[in-house]
Amino acid sequence: MIDLDALTQKCATVMEFAGKQLRHLIETHPDYFPMYTVNGKWKHEGAAWTNWCEGFLGGQLWLLYKHTGDAYWREKAEHYSRLVEHRKDDCNVHDLGFVLWSTYKRWYDLSGDAALNEVVIHGGKTMSLRFKEKGQYLRSFVADESLFIDIMMNVGIIFYAAQQTGDENLLRIANQHCLTTRKYITRGDGSTAHEGIFDLETGEFLRQTTHQGWRGDSSWARGLTWALYGFGTAYRFTQDARYLQTAEDCANFYIERTPADGVPPNDWDEPNSPYPHESSAAAIAASGLLQLAQLTGDVARGRAYRQYAYQILDTLTGPDFLAVDTPGWEGILKQGMYHQRLGLGVNESVMWGDHFFLEAVSKVLGHE
Ligand code: GLY
Repeated sequence: MIDLDALTQKCATVMEFAGKQLRHLIETHPDYFPMYTVNGKWKHEGAAWTNWCEGFLGGQLWLLYKHTGDAYWREKAEHYSRLVEHRKDDCNVHDLGFVLWSTYKRWYDLSGDAALNEVVIHGGKTMSLRFKEKGQYLRSFVADESLFIDIMMNVGIIFYAAQQTGDENLLRIANQHCLTTRKYITRGDGSTAHEGIFDLETGEFLRQTTHQGWRGDSSWARGLTWALYGFGTAYRFTQDARYLQTAEDCANFYIERTPADGVPPNDWDEPNSPYPHESSAAAIAASGLLQLAQLTGDVARGRAYRQYAYQILDTLTGPDFLAVDTPGWEGILKQGMYHQRLGLGVNESVMWGDHFFLEAVSKVLGHE
C-alpha cells in the first residue's frame, strides 16, 4: 500500500523538477515543439512520423501554472496555446483532442472565455469530418481504411462539441466510432489491437494490425492505455455502461499483465524485448486509472484502481524513471518509447509521457 502523504510529497518534487526542465526547454528553444528526445536532448533532426504532440507543451505549462499560480507560467501557457490555435482546422491528423484539449480546454476552464471554448468546439467539428459512414469509424491519419485505437483518446473532443452545441450528428459520430472500436479492436480478454482495417467499398471489417506494437494480434501497451483512458472519458460524457465496461476490461488487463512496479513493456506479447519499460504508457495508465476510480460504481474496484495508479506514480517518481539525477537529460520521464520499428524515440523522454505524468501528478496534488 502506497503512503499517500509520502507520494504527495514526491509529486510536489516532480512539479518543481518539471518547472526547471520546461523553463530550460522554452528558453533554450523558443517556440519549438519537441516530440521525443535523442540521448536525452529535445532538439534534433529525427523524423516525426505524424504531427500530434504540439499541445503537450502548452498542456504541461498550464499544469505548472495551476500548481504554482506563477504569472510566468500563465504567460507561457497562453503563448504556446495560441501557437496551436490554427490546428482547429487541421484535417490531416486524428489528434485534435491531444492538441486542443491539453491547451485550449484548460485555458477555457480557468478563464470562462467563450472564444476559447469555441476553439475546442471547432476542433471537435473538424475531427468529426474524419468519419467514414461505411464502416462507422473516424479514419486514422494513415489511410481511409484505417482505424487507430489512439483515436479513443481524441473522440472526447467530439462528445464535448456535441454536448456544447446540442448537435445530434456529432453525438452520433462520436458514439458510432466508440462502438466500432469496441467491436473490432478491443478483445474479450481486455486487450486491444492498434489498428483495424476496413473494406472501403462495403465497410466490412477485415483485420487487426499494428504500427507501433509487435504484431497485429499482440497487445501494444500504449494503445491499450489510450483505450483505458478514452473509453472512461466516453463513459463520462454518455453514461453508456458499455464504455465503462470496456475501460474496466482494459484496466484489468493492464493490471494482470504488468509487473508489480506498474510499468509495462512496449508490447506485452513481444518475446525478449530489449526494452522492458514503456514509461509513457504507465503515465497514461496512471491518469486514466485515477479517472476510472471516480467513474466505476464499485467502491472496492475504485480503491484498487486508485492504489494501482499510486503504485505507478511511486515507481515513476523514482530514480530509474525521473530524470532528476541524470545530468544533461532534458526530459522529465526517462524510458519512454515512441516508435520501436522506425527507431524513433526508443528509450527516451517523450512529450506525451511527460504531459500525462504531470497530469496524473497534478491529480494527486488536487489541481486537475
Ligand atoms: N500516435 C500516438 C502514439 O504514438 O501513441
